[in-house]
Amino acid sequence: MSLQGFEIDGLYIPVPIVQGGMGVGISLSGLASAVANEGGVGVISAAMIGFREPDVSTNYREANIRALRKEIRLAREKTKGVLGVNIMASMTNFDDMVTCSLEEGVDIIISGGGMPRNLPAFASPEHKTKLVPVVSSGRAAELLARIWKTRYDRLPDAFVVEGPLAGGHLGFSMEALDDESVTLENLVDDVLAVAEKLREAHGKKIPVIAAGGIHSHEDIKRMLARGASAVQMGTRFVATHECDADIRFKEAYVAAGKEDITIIKSPLGLPGRALRGSFLEDVAAGKRKPHSCYCHCLASCTVEKAPYCIGLALANAQRGRLKAGFAFCGANAWRIDKIVSVHELMRELTTGE
Ligand SMILES: Cc1cc2nc3c(=O)[nH]c(=O)nc-3n(C[C@H](O)[C@H](O)[C@H](O)COP(=O)(O)O)c2cc1C
Repeated sequence: MSLQGFEIDGLYIPVPIVQGGMGVGISLSGLASAVANEGGVGVISAAMIGFREPDVSTNYREANIRALRKEIRLAREKTKGVLGVNIMASMTNFDDMVTCSLEEGVDIIISGGGMPRNLPAFASPEHKTKLVPVVSSGRAAELLARIWKTRYDRLPDAFVVEGPLAGGHLGFSMEALDDESVTLENLVDDVLAVAEKLREAHGKKIPVIAAGGIHSHEDIKRMLARGASAVQMGTRFVATHECDADIRFKEAYVAAGKEDITIIKSPLGLPGRALRGSFLEDVAAGKRKPHSCYCHCLASCTVEKAPYCIGLALANAQRGRLKAGFAFCGANAWRIDKIVSVHELMRELTTGE
C-alpha cells in the first residue's frame, strides 16, 4: 500500500515522510534535495553549518549565515520539492539562522532542541514559510501554542512530536527514558488531543508528525493509523548515498549492533543517543578533551564546565574521524544493514517492498 500525502497549512507534501534535520553537517543540500525529489520534506540542519567555512573560527556569525544560504540555494538548484531547515532553539545564532531561512524563502522551519518561544517574532505576513516546533509532550505542545497565540497571534503550522527512541538530543530526563509508559504512541495521542482542542478553539487544522525510532513501512502505517499525518525520520536517512556525512560515519551505522548504542549526557544538558566509541569512553572515564571555544554555539554550554566541545566532536565525526568525535543515532540504528540510495529507501518506506 502506498501512503497518502498531507498538508501543512495549505502546503501539499506528496509523501508523508519528513527527513529529520541532522547536524553537524549530516543533512545538508545533498540529502535534503534527494528526499524532496522523492516527494518528502528534505531538511537541512543549521546546527554549526558553517563548520567547513575557512573563517568559521574568526567570523563565526557570518560564516554560518553564508553556509546556510549556500546550502539552501544548492538544494533549490537540485529540487523543486518541499525544503525545510532545522534550527535548534538552543543555538546562540538561532536568530541569524531563522532570518536567513526566511529571506531564502524555505518552505518550512522546524525547530526543537529547546522551546522556540520566539520563532514567530521573525516572520511577517509576506513570509510563506511554515513554522513547526518539535515537542516531546502534549504539555509542551499546549504551552508553546499558548505562548505563540498570546504573543504573536499565530499557531504552529504543525507539531513534530519526538519520542524517546530518537537520535541526537532527546527532550526527556534520564528517568523518563527508563519509564515504559513514555512511548511515542502515547505522546502522539497526547499531541493529537492538543491539536484537536486548538482546531475546536481556533479552526486551524494542525497536523502531527511522529518521530523517533520509526524504521519500516509498517511503523509508518501504524503512526498514520493512530492519527499522525506524517512521520519524521533521521537515522534511516544516514545510511544513504546522498547523506552528507563521510562514508565512515555511514559505515559505523551499518556495523553497529544493539549493544553499540548508548545514552550520553551532552554539554547541552540533555540526554542524547549515540554510537559508542573510544571518544565517548574517554569522556565517561572523566577524561577531558582539551578545547578552546571560539563560537559559544550552544547557549547552555560553558568552556570551563563542558568536558569536550560538542560542535567539534560532531564535525569530526561528520568528516569520518570517529576517534575524535562521535555519531548521534536513533535506537533502531542497529537494524540498518546496508547503504542504499534515497530513491530505494523511499520506495521501501512507502510501499513496504
Ligand atoms: C545524526 C543525527 C543528528 C541529529 N541532529 C539534529 C539536529 O541538529 N537538530 C534536531 O532538531 N534534531 C536532530 N536530530 C534528530 C532528528 O532530526 C530526528 O528527529 C530523529 O533522528 C528521529 O528519530 P530516528 O533517528 O529514530 O528516525 C538528529 C538525529 C541524528 C540521528
